[in-house]
Amino acid sequence: MTIADRIESTMAAAIASGQGGYAPPKLAAALNYAVNPGGARIRPTILMSVAMACGDDRPDLTDAAATALELMHCASLVHDDLPCFDNADLRRGKPAVHRAFSEPLAVLTGDSLIIMAFQILARAAKHMPHRTLTLIDILGTRSGMPFGICAGQGWESEDKIDLSAYHQAKTGALFIAATQMGAAAAGQEPEAWEELGARIGEAFQVADDLRDALCDESTLGKPAGQDDLHGRPNAVSVYGVQGAIRRFDDILGGAIASIPACPGEAALAQMVRAYADKLVPAGARPTVAGE
Ligand code: IPE
Ligand code: IPE
Ligand code: MG
Ligand code: MG
Repeated sequence: MTIADRIESTMAAAIASGQGGYAPPKLAAALNYAVNPGGARIRPTILMSVAMACGDDRPDLTDAAATALELMHCASLVHDDLPCFDNADLRRGKPAVHRAFSEPLAVLTGDSLIIMAFQILARAAKHMPHRTLTLIDILGTRSGMPFGICAGQGWESEDKIDLSAYHQAKTGALFIAATQMGAAAAGQEPEAWEELGARIGEAFQVADDLRDALCDESTLGKPAGQDDLHGRPNAVSVYGVQGAIRRFDDILGGAIASIPACPGEAALAQMVRAYADKLVPAGARPTVAGE
């Protein structure tokens, strides 16, 4: 089974589990709407790639970890689009959850997905309690305060934003969760995998800033020009377009160099490079004379 197939089948099972019994039908529909069809599924893809590079000896645990992480990511997007945060009407090319359903249902959808993420890990604990506790700890650390998504979103309520702390918590944290959870699911110590996740997250944020500045809404499937609109510090305003591209390339080189020694090191490096190629908007790189 491909990584993409693994992710989709475990995500579908998770959502189905939240829709059974006497579930309120609108909220049940909103859960599925928030998660399917997915976006790039980059975080669970990285998680599974790291687990496979480390041997993936418990694929059931890897599947649970990947699903929990993607559910947390989807929840963060549902809450992020709400009027009290970014007030964004479009997500993944369709109306945001609060526009398609309602604000109360969007709040509850995000809450339900977050709870579901931890529940999936708790249920996986039966066979491998030690590894699973580590997974729960990593997901909590990288979602909450002071290092996680909550902290990242919290920076937006401060008068002065520290760009690096803001980006690390808002975006970097779930990429650290991806590499560390992949390693932990396969029975490896997660510490050695923090640097790779942090660097991929930093590169991803620079690319996201480039896309926000250079692409239009129909290409992105979500509102463009948001950083300027909300007056947020971002890599393009700080470094300029070409400076941001150079920064992306530098960070990515460091990311690949930081991959810990493991049986699947070369394949993992190749996967990171292949994903990175898709992140910088087409046409943003200067054309080389003669090409
Ligand atoms: C969007 O993440 C949120 C950011 C951290 C910039 P993605 O670009 O990974 O979103 P999807 O899941 O592919 O839609
Ligand atoms: C979203 O960040 C990251 C979250 C923690 C949800 P942004 O607000 O910058 O990302 P988009 O542009 O809405 O995807
Ligand atoms: Mg936001
Ligand atoms: Mg947003």
